[in-house]
Amino acid sequence: MSEPLLSVSDLETQFHTDAGTVFAVDGVSFDVDHGETVAIVGESGSGKTVTSESITSILDTPPGEIVGGTITFDGMDLTTLSETALQDVRGKRISHIFQNPQNGLNPVYTVGRQIGEAIRIHDHGDPEVPVQRQVVDLLDKTGIPEASARVDDYPHEFSGGMKQRVLIAMALACDPDLLIADEPTTALDVTIQGQILRLLEDLQAEHDMGIIFVTHDLGVVSEIADRVVVMYAGKVMETGTVEDIFRNPSHPYTRALMDCLPGRGGSMDRIEGSLPDVTDPPAGCRFSPRCEHATEACRSGDQPPLWGVDNGDTHEASCVYYDAEHDEGELAGGEGATGGHQ
Ligand SMILES: Nc1ncnc2c1ncn2[C@@H]1O[C@H](COP(=O)(O)OP(=O)(O)OP(=O)(O)O)[C@@H](O)[C@H]1O
Ligand SMILES: [Mg+2]
Repeated sequence: MSEPLLSVSDLETQFHTDAGTVFAVDGVSFDVDHGETVAIVGESGSGKTVTSESITSILDTPPGEIVGGTITFDGMDLTTLSETALQDVRGKRISHIFQNPQNGLNPVYTVGRQIGEAIRIHDHGDPEVPVQRQVVDLLDKTGIPEASARVDDYPHEFSGGMKQRVLIAMALACDPDLLIADEPTTALDVTIQGQILRLLEDLQAEHDMGIIFVTHDLGVVSEIADRVVVMYAGKVMETGTVEDIFRNPSHPYTRALMDCLPGRGGSMDRIEGSLPDVTDPPAGCRFSPRCEHATEACRSGDQPPLWGVDNGDTHEASCVYYDAEHDEGELAGGEGATGGHQ
């Protein structure tokens, strides 16, 4: 098998604050292949943004620091690169799109000038084609109507959905291998959200980009992801293909998230309780204080390893009920273990 485009292994990112060390990301591993969309999903504060910002080291440092693990991209460990080498990766190989399109655009320059600048800085455009032409092509590709007439407009002249398209155009200016999209549609209404998701899918097919899609919304995950990483309080609770996760959600945390989906059990209620303080995380499984299935085994030691679920090699859950040695009975509705790894 060929190497994945990106391989995050045992990533640990902490914030050193007056209130203590925040264990924001604590031993997270996942891969992203070329042309694949991996969704990172979890409640607010679970460590999704810190994970994705660790990849290109755009964290606030200090207080943030990557203290362990590796992030392998095209044979390089990004955690050991110099700032200069990282700058090269950031603009030219890995692009980010963020939740609030307003923050990514400078209000005093036209969008055409800003995208043109991105093309020039990243030195990616075709030298034979005038930059202005390339800008119009990019805007056109992201579905902005009458792109050639809009290049000279300022950001405030675009709606929220159109601004997010402008930012996608900017992120594509370097033809990235990996696009990291952190809640890119959360601020948009549902119709526009659907349009942006389809746009990303089309652009991915055209460019064979890997995409990391960060969201707290499982509905969006079902629409866009190939694989899913479910995070909670800095840990991976469950991972699998989108079919694995939706057909057989196995960690009680994933099931609780599913219950929040409209139309599932009619419940729009949030999950009972709140995330633990990650300056002083609970022993055992981090979800155990909120888990109706938790036993003593769940409340001691470390977070359980990711155990194989359902005889597949793609689906794993960090729950003692999937440990073949666990003898306290089946998790209600679970399908049992096939042995763990790690
Ligand atoms: N600059 C910082 N200083 C201290 N703690 C931080 C900092 N940035 C993030 N954290 C902490 O790291 C943890 C993970 O935060 P993160 O922003 O990754 O969550 P998230 O899953 O992206 O949540 P959301 O859905 O709200 O965006 C949280 O406990 C958060 O308070
Ligand atoms: Mg976030």
